[in-house]
Amino acid sequence: MAETSDIYEKVMEVARRRGFVWPSSEIYGSVAGFIDYGPLGAMLKRNVENLWRSFYVFQEGYYEIECPTVGNEAIFVASGHVKEFADKMVQCPHCGEYLRADHIAEENGIENAGTLSAEALQATLYELPCPSCKEPLGEAGVFAFNLMFETTIGPGSQRKGYLRPETAQGIFTDFPRLLRFYRDKLPFGAVQIGKSYRNEISPRQGMIRLREFSQAEAEIFVHPECKDHPAFDRYADYTVPLLTIARQLDGQEPAAMTMRAAVSEGVIANEYVAYYIALTHRILTAIGVDADKLRFRQHLTDERAHYAADCWDAEVYSGRFGWVEIVGIADRTNYDLRSHAAHSGTSMTVFMPYDEPKRVVKRRIVADMGVLGPQYRGKAKAIADALAASEPGEDGARVTVDGEEFFIPADLYAVREEEVEVRGEEVMPHVIEPSYGIDRMIYVALEHSYAEEEVEGEIRKVLRFPPAVAPIQAAVFPLMNRDGLDDIAQTITERLTQCRILAQYDDSGAIGRRYRRQDEVGTPFAVTVDYDTLEDNTVTVRDRDSMEQVRVPIERLPETLSALISGAVAFRNIRV
Ligand code: ATP
Ligand code: GLY
Repeated sequence: MAETSDIYEKVMEVARRRGFVWPSSEIYGSVAGFIDYGPLGAMLKRNVENLWRSFYVFQEGYYEIECPTVGNEAIFVASGHVKEFADKMVQCPHCGEYLRADHIAEENGIENAGTLSAEALQATLYELPCPSCKEPLGEAGVFAFNLMFETTIGPGSQRKGYLRPETAQGIFTDFPRLLRFYRDKLPFGAVQIGKSYRNEISPRQGMIRLREFSQAEAEIFVHPECKDHPAFDRYADYTVPLLTIARQLDGQEPAAMTMRAAVSEGVIANEYVAYYIALTHRILTAIGVDADKLRFRQHLTDERAHYAADCWDAEVYSGRFGWVEIVGIADRTNYDLRSHAAHSGTSMTVFMPYDEPKRVVKRRIVADMGVLGPQYRGKAKAIADALAASEPGEDGARVTVDGEEFFIPADLYAVREEEVEVRGEEVMPHVIEPSYGIDRMIYVALEHSYAEEEVEGEIRKVLRFPPAVAPIQAAVFPLMNRDGLDDIAQTITERLTQCRILAQYDDSGAIGRRYRRQDEVGTPFAVTVDYDTLEDNTVTVRDRDSMEQVRVPIERLPETLSALISGAVAFRNIRV
């Protein structure tokens, strides 16, 4: 069979064959939008998640929480997902296939089709062919389809629930407890890594568009007026290609800017958003994304999610899919906290003490209980409370108690002005949210790491994973499966795994084959035990990318490999 030239096919062929990614429940005929991670894929995924943790949890100090993936309906009514979380869909009148309307338009060269209204999309689709049966879509109606999976909670229950479409809502509903955990101080952040679910209309893009996928999200709660990130200097000089709204509308390419310049020139609204753009660039390149195929694109105003005031997507260029969103960095303002406060009746504010207490004049409305008491009896107290919070007119005040409206004439209360001491104010924080799609990160890491090169007349397939994410970090081979070489290699493997290096012993086949097998799964270093080992207790360490080898004493092997894997030392600089 002829070799395909499609990078996606090449990468997925290796991914399937070598145990990275498989279609889910294949024996029953797999369903689009669901995948299984095989042994090496699951390890790669853990490594990517741990690398993400090393930045967000360790560097930033944002604790991780874990919430259920099923949530009751009230959460998603408040969050706006029940009403707003829909894609525009069309059903082909000929073959009956359900299709995502904006994607068909975009596949046919219509730019930013996601921002078009249903009517405009409908007009656009009229002459376009159905991707399945190729007949024109004609007057097929475009309608909204909510992407959440619905369920019921409890046997025979009428209580509706949803599988979460983002991990973020768990962090928002935990806000009052998190605030106490962080001792009532801003800013603070919480992160969550876990599964999210979207009933995608026609997931035809492999790992890019799944119906069950993993997200790593951070919700950073900041004072609404504070635009300065306390550690901004860490990334102020970091340069990132930015594709602003203006550049998109002018048909221009992204412009590379430092984060300091982007904020001071108003290209990025504040230091928080700029900081997380730079951090995202850092993380994506650390997992093996090619920096030349990475850009940050600002959402057009009519493209933003229902909760976002500003949003930048980290987009990565894929040889198969073009520019793909991998991470969304959104300014969610106080949209979610405000909405959860209103729907749940729970306070979602932070008390911010002033440096010095302030004296302010406050108006107090005091009811004349001598008259109100006998007149309104059991309701008098509630009416007095409602009066205290009312805005009276000249003749009196209108108040509502238990759904009943009362007019209280002005001679039944007194309005007093009093000077009081105020120690601070309640503020509702704003939220900056970097949201990473782990599966998309893994796909682009696979695609950008994949290379083919001719070595000694043969094609070598190699995944050039950075050592920190490689599923196997060191392979250990005995040159021959005899004369004690195998025993030494086994002992070395055990020693390396004890030192938390992901090592794999392999004694099957010619040594060249073993190297190729490890190259193909991205193992950065291979250790070979040979006859010289018996003489001088040294082994060869071979570098996957340069294919160069050095001899290292066995007792120095764990520290040498650890330094290579952490990046503390480059292979060419090894001194032993
Ligand atoms: P798209 O426009 O591609 O559908 P989105 O704008 O809906 O993506 P967000 O809602 O911003 O995506 O979700 C945050 C991140 O979650 C995305 O950047 C992406 O990496 C990931 N993600 C979203 N939907 C999917 C999916 N169906 N499959 C895999 N990852 C996804
Ligand atoms: N939390 C952002 C998103 O998933 O849409």
